[in-house]
Amino acid sequence: MSERIVVVGAALVDDGRLLAARRSAPVELAGRWELPGGKVEPGESADAALVRELREELGVDAEAGGRVPGEWPLKSPYVLHVWTARLRPGSAAPEPLEDHDELRWLGPGEIWDVHWLDQDVPAVRQTLAHLGAAGGLT
Ligand code: CDP
Repeated sequence: MSERIVVVGAALVDDGRLLAARRSAPVELAGRWELPGGKVEPGESADAALVRELREELGVDAEAGGRVPGEWPLKSPYVLHVWTARLRPGSAAPEPLEDHDELRWLGPGEIWDVHWLDQDVPAVRQTLAHLGAAGGLT
């Protein structure tokens, strides 16, 4: 099995805070927090998938920044990549439209206050290191 499918997660940062989203489904993931996102479709670029997923799941108009270095295994054949993202001027505030039932903006001291999905923990840790180095979230 060599095919892998990339799931893009968004490190959506606004006003120095990182958005975390609590999953409402499927049952084995419900109640756990993640970086919002989803599968990249065939022929779609990762940054386009990120913008699409954020529009569908949160109703926001976002733009991708750059990719956070690294790749984290999910249930085969999926792997998680993380991209930074920000809201474009005039975007609506995020709302949990599908997949999620609660959102939280986490300040620098609050990142570990939520129960992240196991597989998102190393991705979030790497994201913080990346954002910190860029002066985004310290
Ligand atoms: O919306 P779409 O169906 O494209 O994707 P999804 O169901 O949101 O995510 C696809 C898979 O990636 C699910 O199994 C999620 O649990 C997983 N995922 C994850 O582990 N961490 C994330 N930050 C986002 C998705």
